[in-house]
Amino acid sequence: MKVLVIGSGGREHALVWKIQQSPLVDKIYCAPGNPGIAQHAECVDIQPTDIPRLLEFAVNEKIDLTVPGPEAPLVQGLVDEFEAKGLTIFGPSQKAAELEGSKAFAKWLMRKYNVPTAEWQVFYDAEEARRHLREREYPCVIKADGLAAGKGAVIVQDEQQAEHALDEIMVRRVFGEAGAKIVVEDYMRGEEASVFALSDGENVALLHPAQDHKPIFDGDQGPNTGGMGAYAPAPVVDTAMQERVLREIIEPTIRGMAMENRPYRGVLYAGLMITEDGPKVVEFNCRFGDPEAQVVLPLLGSDLVDLMMKAAHREMHDAQIELLEQWAVCVVMASGGYPGTYETGKKIIGLEKLVGEDILIFHAGTRRNEGGAIVTAGGRVLSVVAVRDTFHAAREAAYAAVGKIAFDGAYYRKDIGYKALKHLAGTNS
Ligand code: GLY
Repeated sequence: MKVLVIGSGGREHALVWKIQQSPLVDKIYCAPGNPGIAQHAECVDIQPTDIPRLLEFAVNEKIDLTVPGPEAPLVQGLVDEFEAKGLTIFGPSQKAAELEGSKAFAKWLMRKYNVPTAEWQVFYDAEEARRHLREREYPCVIKADGLAAGKGAVIVQDEQQAEHALDEIMVRRVFGEAGAKIVVEDYMRGEEASVFALSDGENVALLHPAQDHKPIFDGDQGPNTGGMGAYAPAPVVDTAMQERVLREIIEPTIRGMAMENRPYRGVLYAGLMITEDGPKVVEFNCRFGDPEAQVVLPLLGSDLVDLMMKAAHREMHDAQIELLEQWAVCVVMASGGYPGTYETGKKIIGLEKLVGEDILIFHAGTRRNEGGAIVTAGGRVLSVVAVRDTFHAAREAAYAAVGKIAFDGAYYRKDIGYKALKHLAGTNS
């Protein structure tokens, strides 16, 4: 088989790394990829949202399976265009990707199909929203309806902060048309977790639950990032909780989407809050998480390509999924200054020290300079991942590996997995 992966981050490197292990695969392309991905795939210089060129490439190269990484092309209708040309692609249609592309649609679906989530209201008019914000309780969450590169949800503590967020999103339109409507919802207390379900529109298979670390500083302080580290399985979603997530959230959502004539094929990412009253949905995403993919894919024992083909061809009824009984910890190394402004072009040293060690290095913001050296090229630069038999061993190994890599201004959180440490205190994990 020839496989095309779309994207250039740590998530896509993890996807390519897992896909190249499949005996079904002869050749992998990645558009546009990065120097890490180039170890396993031929990188082609096409951007993820350039659907006409992706389509032309896939037709010309007779690609057997396309795997989109990021959400933007899915929400733009990439899957519909590929399927119209008879190409096999693992991902939701444009109508199904609205689960991520419109927060108001996701909330509406959850209300209709009794999927637990925070109470909410949608506003199409800034003055109407302002009146509501004067009367409601705080804290609450204000969300731009559309895609906003992970920055569209703001937790506000009082009316003043709420008015500011409203003005930014709906009046100044800092996220463009994504802010034409907003969702205002109750603030939920609990511990967050990410659950990934592969689906063919009817059947589902869960991967290990994971936990992300979105704020930039230790102790979950400071501004949000794309994610500074992750681990799996997340003990907050134990076997009993996983069962509830499946029955109360994943299954009714997949069933609801089918009933609405928007069958959901691909990976459904449920961002959850595990509250005192059980699991509730914070948001749905129509793709793998980044950096969660970097920990859940190495713990998948099954052939990912076989599963993706079955999902795309609506044949998951007999799909078996094997999850490794190990732990994975990912520490993200970022450019100093991220998620604000940062410099790029810094030489990355030490990668060669890890060759032959049992460590996975997934590249994100990297490129080769004129001399062929690998240098920084983005905010999140590398995902350093260790898979071990215990959580403690995985965490120790990931941090030991991070200690061998250096670049000017390198920053990483020192407390990845601190919530797991609390859950696992007194156990041998
Ligand atoms: N880890 C957060 C995201 O992928 O959206």
